[in-house]
Amino acid sequence: MTNRKATHIPGLDELINGGFPDGTINLITGPPGSAKSLFGIEYLYNGARFDDEPGIYLSLEESRESILRAASSYGLQFETFEKEGKAYLIDLGKMRVECSTSEELEWGLASFETLQDFLKNHLSFSGAKRLVLDSLTAVGVYYKSSELLRRELFKFSRFLRDANITTILISEVTGSGDSRYGIEEFIADSLIKLDYESATGEYRRTLTVKKMRFTKHDPLKHPFLIMDNGIEVSPDEVIG
Ligand SMILES: Nc1ncnc2c1ncn2[C@@H]1O[C@H](COP(=O)(O)OP(=O)(O)OP(=O)(O)O)[C@@H](O)[C@H]1O
Ligand SMILES: [Mg+2]
Repeated sequence: MTNRKATHIPGLDELINGGFPDGTINLITGPPGSAKSLFGIEYLYNGARFDDEPGIYLSLEESRESILRAASSYGLQFETFEKEGKAYLIDLGKMRVECSTSEELEWGLASFETLQDFLKNHLSFSGAKRLVLDSLTAVGVYYKSSELLRRELFKFSRFLRDANITTILISEVTGSGDSRYGIEEFIADSLIKLDYESATGEYRRTLTVKKMRFTKHDPLKHPFLIMDNGIEVSPDEVIG
């Protein structure tokens, strides 16, 4: 039987046979404000809280303070786990200043190579079992051609697999497509799409597991709510 990393997000694990298979790369996509970051925060926090598994949250978009503040508004107190060495919230903005190439510095960007160098040290030091990269979209803008991006993303994904860490890659996708660069959904082992709709006049958030390797999963579109303590998926409700 495959070992899995449960998300412990109410209603979700039962759709994906218990969680993300160990060592896999999982893509979370959705438009702005669709709760991608909240999903990543909960995945990491719950790993430390319920499974005693250390994790790293790498943020390229938001400052550490902003993530801590968002987490704390859902009652998730990261600092306790940080003190215990079970969670690392890392603002890559700071890291870029410390170890970027001049081009990265000039543009305020980070490449996969920079991320990899950073992770090489940090993964063994932290013993992390879970990783969130928020977001892939922000790394993508570093590359001038899609060819180069594909090649580097492929290399990065091989690095993650060799590291045997269970990763969430967050990607901003608007419209009907499944990915931003047309490649990440093939590299990833799973794809969960978050969305919202108001076509019926009623505003609804939705979650669809579009793909999951090594897993018999539920492929239907389910509504979810953001409650005071985070995401709550309705596994028995389906949106046709
Ligand atoms: N208690 C709540 N009830 C409903 N919605 C909420 C609540 N608290 C926050 N939200 C909304 O939840 C959304 C989730 O935000 P989050 O930052 O996770 O989205 P995101 O997909 O990462 O967005 P972005 O693409 O901008 O990074 C936000 O739009 C926020 O306004
Ligand atoms: Mg976000």
